[in-house]
Amino acid sequence: MSTALTPEQVAAFERDGYIVLRGLFDAEEVDLLRRAMEEDPSVRDHMLVRADGEGGGTRIALWNRAGDSVYGLAARSDRMVDAAEALLGGPVYHFQSKLTAKDAGGGGAWEWHQDYGYWYYNGCLYPRLLSCMIALDRTDRGNGCLQFLKGSHHLGRVEHVQITPEQNGIDPARVAAAEQRLERVYAELDPGDVVIFHCNLFHRSDQNRSDRRRWTLIVCYNRVDNDTITKDDDRYYVPLERVPDGALKAAGLKFADAGNAEHFTSKPYVPKVGAAE
Ligand code: SIN
Ligand code: MN
Repeated sequence: MSTALTPEQVAAFERDGYIVLRGLFDAEEVDLLRRAMEEDPSVRDHMLVRADGEGGGTRIALWNRAGDSVYGLAARSDRMVDAAEALLGGPVYHFQSKLTAKDAGGGGAWEWHQDYGYWYYNGCLYPRLLSCMIALDRTDRGNGCLQFLKGSHHLGRVEHVQITPEQNGIDPARVAAAEQRLERVYAELDPGDVVIFHCNLFHRSDQNRSDRRRWTLIVCYNRVDNDTITKDDDRYYVPLERVPDGALKAAGLKFADAGNAEHFTSKPYVPKVGAAE
């Protein structure tokens, strides 16, 4: 399939702060990505639990470089990089990837936040970043899919407060005011669908109280000319080596090499912000 975005898709992203690309990865590719997330020892060894504000926790694994694993190749694939470059308006590099592994029966909630509420503190001067959430399982309202306030990226970066030691969230008074003005939408996805969202878009998700797992892989890109002004973690610019779309199937179930070329993180970076009132 052609994966070049249309001018209408680019305009929708600018207006709403997100677009959904259905079936960007086919069943065979999703199977490879899902199995890599389940079986790759590097992912398993770097699983962290991030407390939510509702007494639960969400399991995540984070890494900062896109390597030669099948999930590194997905992040480097033409279809993903083309989309990110079309939406951000220039060359991009891989900023971070993460597995958000919401298990059945209580997998944790994410409070309302903007990704730029975190990434500002990584030294990104402009909000010229985006995230691509690849559904590995069916994700819908029943199992805690992503929710957005449509168009909220136009508010710019909004103050965040500490919700738990591991999660910051948008100042609740701002969320309440924004909710009165903006529509809440639910990113319901089938495996292989991708939702791409702007780093200032308000988003959250509920705990997964269903009996269906909700795992997603999120790949984030930064525009090259928005390289971090600080170098105190490893999310500064390194060239992204693109690969053709066929590289995933050609690689098969390829895991990360020993030696941590992906720069898996052992602790999420949570900037210090003020306490919630
Ligand atoms: C995120 O905001 O980074 C993850 C949200 C989710 O997995 O529901
Ligand atoms: Mn987020």
